[in-house]
Amino acid sequence: MTNTKTNTTQVYIINGSPRKNWNTAKMCESFKKGVTDAGLKAEIINLYDLNYKGCYSCFACKVRNGKSYGKCNYPDELKEVLEKVSNSEGLILASHIYFGEVTAQMRAFMERLLFPVYFYDEAGSKIPPKKLETAIIYTMNVKHDRFNAWFVGTDKSGPLGLFEKWIEMTYEKPEILCAYDTLQFGDYSKYVADVWDVEEKKKHNEEEFPKELESAYKAGVKMAERIKGKLN
Ligand SMILES: Cc1cc2nc3c(=O)[nH]c(=O)nc-3n(C[C@H](O)[C@H](O)[C@H](O)COP(=O)(O)O)c2cc1C
Repeated sequence: MTNTKTNTTQVYIINGSPRKNWNTAKMCESFKKGVTDAGLKAEIINLYDLNYKGCYSCFACKVRNGKSYGKCNYPDELKEVLEKVSNSEGLILASHIYFGEVTAQMRAFMERLLFPVYFYDEAGSKIPPKKLETAIIYTMNVKHDRFNAWFVGTDKSGPLGLFEKWIEMTYEKPEILCAYDTLQFGDYSKYVADVWDVEEKKKHNEEEFPKELESAYKAGVKMAERIKGKLN
């Protein structure tokens, strides 16, 4: 690669799920491979490894002429991640679904990422952050129809619809990548989880999950190509 900018480009994949070898983590790895195969650098950051909380309401990001104006500089383990993301070109937010929403860790990350750039004014204007390329990865027990009806909602009025709107209002429109009807346990017989048809789940996992991983890979390639197009 000749362009030095692309040699230092980072795409950050923020994994808001705790398990490092399961569905969400695999979707993150696939996306990362797509980005790196297309020639850019990508890193996965596991939120569960970090010691941080959501917005502390310190309002340092809103102090007139303050040195942290428009930025979250709260000194915990998210500070460096937020700095890295703000200097990157692409942001992927990955979470499995907990009670119809993203995980608490992802929600806390989002508060710290977005609150500093929004003004308290009637227009809801913002300090324009860099227009990062974005994607969102969700994994879940439910199937496609329930995901849309229950969690995204009509006109994005559901909890995940609102989450997506905030990302879209701040950055480039996110590509949405999903793994549905995931395998949750290695051995279902050990757990009280009779609601699931285990054979059907296993079949879905064998037939559909590889396709979902492939979609994440392709989205990674496409994102990297868009970023290279912007930089050249
Ligand atoms: C506390 C908790 C709440 C969950 N809530 C939902 C839910 O509301 N809807 C859903 O489809 N799946 C739900 N799930 C299932 C997970 O989203 C699903 O198993 C996911 O694939 C797990 O991701 P992982 O394999 O990366 O750990 C829940 C799981 C847990 C542990």
